Amino acid sequence: MARCGTDLQTAVDLLQAGRPVGLPTETVYGLAARADMPDAVADIYRLKGRPAHNPLILHFSSVADMRGWVARMPTEAERLFAQFSPGPLTLLLPKGPRVGDHISAGLPRVGVRIPAHPLFRKAIQRTGCPLAAPSANRSGYVSPTLAEHVAGVYGGELTYVLDGGPCEVGVESTIVGLEPNGSWTLYRPGAIAATDIECVLDAPLRLPHDHTQVVAPGMDAHHYAPHTPVLIGLEETPVIEGKEGWITWRELTYPIPAGVVHHPISNRSDLNDAARELYAAMIRLDGLGLDRIRIQPFPHRGIGIALNERIHRASLRTHIPEA
Ligand code: TXA
Ligand code: MG
Repeated sequence: MARCGTDLQTAVDLLQAGRPVGLPTETVYGLAARADMPDAVADIYRLKGRPAHNPLILHFSSVADMRGWVARMPTEAERLFAQFSPGPLTLLLPKGPRVGDHISAGLPRVGVRIPAHPLFRKAIQRTGCPLAAPSANRSGYVSPTLAEHVAGVYGGELTYVLDGGPCEVGVESTIVGLEPNGSWTLYRPGAIAATDIECVLDAPLRLPHDHTQVVAPGMDAHHYAPHTPVLIGLEETPVIEGKEGWITWRELTYPIPAGVVHHPISNRSDLNDAARELYAAMIRLDGLGLDRIRIQPFPHRGIGIALNERIHRASLRTHIPEA
């Protein structure tokens, strides 16, 4: 099992030695390696069991540091970073000469983001190189929001997880991409609302028109699911079969039935609380040997859009066999 600790220098020394490290971001924990070390990046793929066609996001401490990693920095991208970074926003931009195929999986764009967590930012600065980091879960599983979620997953193969406390946001960054015709597409909803991005762009965001194309492979329908089947909906009293765990973010209109393992994720009906706690609740309930997990849906506004998208994916795992 990986050691969890708060020693930044231990994490940096491992990164410099070409070893992946678990690092906290404000969204979820990442499994990070130096972007200029293909063998270290290959280790991330191997550890996660991540398909080679699924590219990685590069993390920087400033827009200036992206020089050479992106082919150009359009003014809209500068405006988006000025408004929302450091923070939970990833832009897909034409890749620069420094991006090898080990990062972009041979695709024409590279994902770039400036995370807000102070420990992640310091790790980038001390390493002196952008860090490639997918979420630190095994491929297809729920993203980790606590250091201990990461520590247990990789046995002795991962040495160290830098513990930065619970992730403040709790869901992965919003991803928007620049298209060859100059328009922008929303590839993954997140804490930064599409409507706020549209205000900065002064143009509507498109949605990916063809989900079968490998534009953002993480958009495969069966990602981010616990092993226990997930059902959405608690608006009416369900017929309970077997052992159930319920995740709620606001009070139900009926009493919780006896025997149900109840995991509330906000005690004040707050969507940001819910985002912060959702994955930890799913991971905890998944460890209890239940027959199913039911999740109360979220209102379709703000971060609720991202939360509904994530629980929808989690519920699909039940029907779509893993590739
Ligand atoms: O909040 C986050 O973004 C977290 C933290 C650790 O930064 N990272 C994260 O990375 O969620 P990952 O790899 O779990 O999800 C990134 C998604 C994947 O669906 C990937 O396919 C897509 O972004 N992606 C990355 N680079 C891309 C590219 N060049 N073109 C298309 N899609 C890309
Ligand atoms: Mg991920």
